[in-house]
Amino acid sequence: MSELVRFGVSVDSDLLQQFDQLIGGMGYANRSEAIRDLFREKLVEQEWETPGKDIFGVVSIVYDHHTMGVHRRLTELQHESYVKVISTMHVHIDHQNCLELIVIKGYGNEVRELGEKLISLKGVKYGRLNLGTTGQSVK
Ligand code: NI
Repeated sequence: MSELVRFGVSVDSDLLQQFDQLIGGMGYANRSEAIRDLFREKLVEQEWETPGKDIFGVVSIVYDHHTMGVHRRLTELQHESYVKVISTMHVHIDHQNCLELIVIKGYGNEVRELGEKLISLKGVKYGRLNLGTTGQSVK
């Protein structure tokens, strides 16, 4: 870890009060840690847009397994993609519904593309793509 640097920031008092309330509710012990996390968040978001950089994504979907072909198509999409499928977890929620978590790694545009294809598939009731980082560019 490099040395710590202190710097001053000018901010509107109302905005600072709102920020303090927000981070207090999130469990931050102090502003510094919350601000460090904001820095990291922005750096990771930039990484998602950088061509040629690997990122991680977690796709979570809920679907009705009685819908014809949905499970087969979900599997085909993963096999057809250039993105590496690292792991999948399947949970039989109840008689009708399944939850699937799919961890994928690849370039940002490819991870987004596969995530969006999986989520928009007919029979998928709910889907979300969370983008992550390999951690290489964030200190
Ligand atoms: Ni199931």
